[in-house]
Amino acid sequence: MLTGSAEKHLKKTFGNRVRFNEPMSRHTTIRIGGPADAVVYPEGIEELKALLKWADAENIPAGVFGDGTNLLVRDGGIRGIVILLSKGFRDISEPCEDGGFFMITAGAGARLAALCRAALKHSLKGLNYAVGIPGTIGGAVAMNAGTKTGETADVIDAVQVVFAGKEPEWIGRNDLNFSYRKLSWEETGEKPVIVQARFRLEKGDVNRLQSEADALISARKSSQPTTRPNAGCFFKNPANEKPAGLLIERAGLKGAESGGAMISEKHANFIVNTGNANASDVLDLMEKARREVKKRFNVQLETEVIITGEEA
Ligand code: EPU
Repeated sequence: MLTGSAEKHLKKTFGNRVRFNEPMSRHTTIRIGGPADAVVYPEGIEELKALLKWADAENIPAGVFGDGTNLLVRDGGIRGIVILLSKGFRDISEPCEDGGFFMITAGAGARLAALCRAALKHSLKGLNYAVGIPGTIGGAVAMNAGTKTGETADVIDAVQVVFAGKEPEWIGRNDLNFSYRKLSWEETGEKPVIVQARFRLEKGDVNRLQSEADALISARKSSQPTTRPNAGCFFKNPANEKPAGLLIERAGLKGAESGGAMISEKHANFIVNTGNANASDVLDLMEKARREVKKRFNVQLETEVIITGEEA
C-alpha cells in the first residue's frame, strides 16, 4: 500500500494521469489481475526520470508494463507503481540509411504492429517475424519476442534505457544479452526502463513482404485463439523436445477447464479466459499441464508468461 503522502505526491505530479487501486485486468490481454496500488502515465522522458528517481528514493517498487500481452498478474495485485508509457513514448521515426542498413527508431510505448506497418510502407525487410505479435516495442525488446521466423534480437541495433537516478543511455546490440524470449540484465544488477529501440532493417520487395505478412497472419489466425482473451503462448518450447502445445495436447488437456480458464481447444499452449477467470484458475491449469507433461513425457515445462503480483 502507498502511504498517504506518496499518494499525494503522485496526485499532485500526475493529476488525472495516475489511478489508484487500478485493476490490472484492464491492462492485460487475458483480462485478469488484481489491483495495482497505482498506475501512472508519465508523458515523456523528463517525467519518467523524475518518477523513477522519486520512487527509488522512497523505496517504492516501480516497473514499466507494456500491453500486458504475455503477463499474468495474481489476484492480490501489485504493490507499488505500474508505469505505462503511452503519450510521449510512441513515436516511430522515418528510416535513415546507415552503413547499408535502414534504421527506424521506435518509442517503447509504440505498438510492434505499427512498426511493422511503417517498415512495410518503406519496403524494409526484417520485421515480418513480428507480424501478428501483439504488444509494445518495450515489451518486445524486454521479452525478445519472436516466432519461428525470427526474434527481436535479430533486428535490434541499439536500445535506449533509463536506470533510476541516471540519464538515458543507448546500449548497442553487442552489449545486449538476448536469449530465447529474454533480455537479461544480470550484469548490470538492475533492470532499467527501456524507452526507445533502434531497428536495423534492409531494403526488400514490398509485394513479397506483404504476401509473406498476409500468410503469417492467416496461419496465426487459423492456429491460435486470437479472438479470446489470452496471454500468448503460456510455456516456452522446451529445447530439443516437441513443442509445448503438442505435448499438452498429447497429454489430453485440450479443453481442460478450471473456473473461468480453459486450455484452448485450438492451441494447447494457450490458456484462455472464457469470461470471469481469475489468476488462480489459470495457475491451476498451468500446474496441471506441467504435472501431466512431466508425468507422461518426462519434460519440465517452463513458463514463457511472466507471472507477477501477490496472491489474494
Ligand atoms: N501443436 C499441436 N497441438 C497444439 C498446438 C500445436 O499438436 O495444440 C503442434 C503443431 O501442429 C505444430 C507444433 O505443435 O506441429 C508447433 O505448433 P505451432 O506451429 O502452433 O507453433 P508453436 O511452437 O506452438 C511458436 C511460438 C508462438 C508463435 C508461433 C508461430 C513459442 C513458445 N511459441 O508456437 O509464439 O506465434 O510459433 O511462429 O515460441 C508466443 O511466444 O507467445 C507465441 C504465441
